[in-house]
Amino acid sequence: MAITASGASPRSLYDPTSELLADPYEVYARLRETAPVRRIVGPDGRPAWIVTRYEDVRQSLADPRLSLDKRRALPGGYQGFGLPPALDANLLNMDPPDHTRIRRFVARAFTARRIEELRRPVRRTADELLDALESGGRESGGRESGTLESGTLESGGRADLVASYAAPLPIVVICELLGVPPRDRRDFREWTDALIAPDPARPERMKAAIAAMLAFFTELLAHKRAEPGDDLLSALIAARDEGEEAGEEAGGEASHGDGGDRLSEDELMSLAFLILFAGYENTVQLIGNSVLALLRHPGQLAALRAEPGRTAAAVGEFVRYEGPALLAIRRFAVEDLTIGGVTVPAGETVMLSLAAANRDPHRFADPDRLDLDRDTAGQVALGHGIHYCLGAPLARLETEIALNALLERFPRLALDVPYEELRWRPSTRARGLIALPVRF
Ligand code: HEM
Repeated sequence: MAITASGASPRSLYDPTSELLADPYEVYARLRETAPVRRIVGPDGRPAWIVTRYEDVRQSLADPRLSLDKRRALPGGYQGFGLPPALDANLLNMDPPDHTRIRRFVARAFTARRIEELRRPVRRTADELLDALESGGRESGGRESGTLESGTLESGGRADLVASYAAPLPIVVICELLGVPPRDRRDFREWTDALIAPDPARPERMKAAIAAMLAFFTELLAHKRAEPGDDLLSALIAARDEGEEAGEEAGGEASHGDGGDRLSEDELMSLAFLILFAGYENTVQLIGNSVLALLRHPGQLAALRAEPGRTAAAVGEFVRYEGPALLAIRRFAVEDLTIGGVTVPAGETVMLSLAAANRDPHRFADPDRLDLDRDTAGQVALGHGIHYCLGAPLARLETEIALNALLERFPRLALDVPYEELRWRPSTRARGLIALPVRF
């Protein structure tokens, strides 16, 4: 059964050169129709199952028989990023009760109400970035405007919206929330690129990125312990250290994920790592993908410009249409189980395609069409069940504000290259643009 346009073997599906990179939706549509639960070779070269129908994906996301704990994998069956325990002891590798215990530590920081309080600072950051983008873009746009065909651009400019807006906004926001001091901030994308879009020809790049991340978080925690602030990281450190002291007073051993309401040092650092990276990586892509979707749908763009109050609701459709997480975190069958009528043996790896589920025509009518009026309830771009994205309210808020601030500022915003020339990150897990050249 052919699953690629060329009829190539399943092995080619996650090959970095595969057509999945060029058009994931088309490849997933064919899989969904012909082999909705299919054994393939996964992105790490090991066998895995890929699930593509909405009903199967949504049910599997909440199925406790699918574990995120890689100790449940068959020996030799799964190879992860090779993160050290100080970065790997995070929510996305855990099942209850450890998952429940650790999620409790941070859930309060991410409630819709707490996040709504960030509205003003996020808007201020967006406006500042647009000020810088506008003045920088006019300089370069002015210089090059003679080469543009349109005569309407003399007072306009050009910019790469990913580098100057979509990326820095979530980085600033998550660093502020966590309490990463300005001098320690950087464009962390270099590190996540090494993990999410690894270059098989340069394995040393991933090792170097992991070593640099470990050093970064070790220093950051030491610094925050010495100089606590009014931020999430300081609160987590205090919670961890208080728990530790209480444990010692009670004559217990230091906490190492042994239950109760304590946090081990590895868990603390892994949580900081997860929140920082989950906090900006996907949001960068969602802002870029949403702007692109609007620029390609002028009618919907005009409608949002006319009624910016609709943007918050429209984010649900942006994330359904071109959400940045193509796949959920890999899961392992803890027992033989049946998905969509197919038996998946215990220990095997299961990959749930969020992108395929969100474009399943049995769930969303005309799914390849962007429709900002669509009811997107139930879409799975942010997961479902106990691992549902903790940062969803923040991601939605940032995207809403980023879009409204951008559209308000630039009434003539347009793509500066043909769509076909846009370059996507070479990743089968994450859907996002390397750059988004625009004119304004
Ligand atoms: C557009 C933006 C985002 C997307 C598409 C996204 C997507 C997801 C998805 C699909 C999951 C579930 C993974 C699974 O079950 O396999 C998840 C979990 C998670 N996300 Fe997000 N996310 C986004 C933004 C954020 C932000 C801004 C934060 C934090 C500030 C965040 C923090 C987390 C955390 C901590 C988890 C793990 C939750 C758990 O295991 O209990 N995410 N995210």
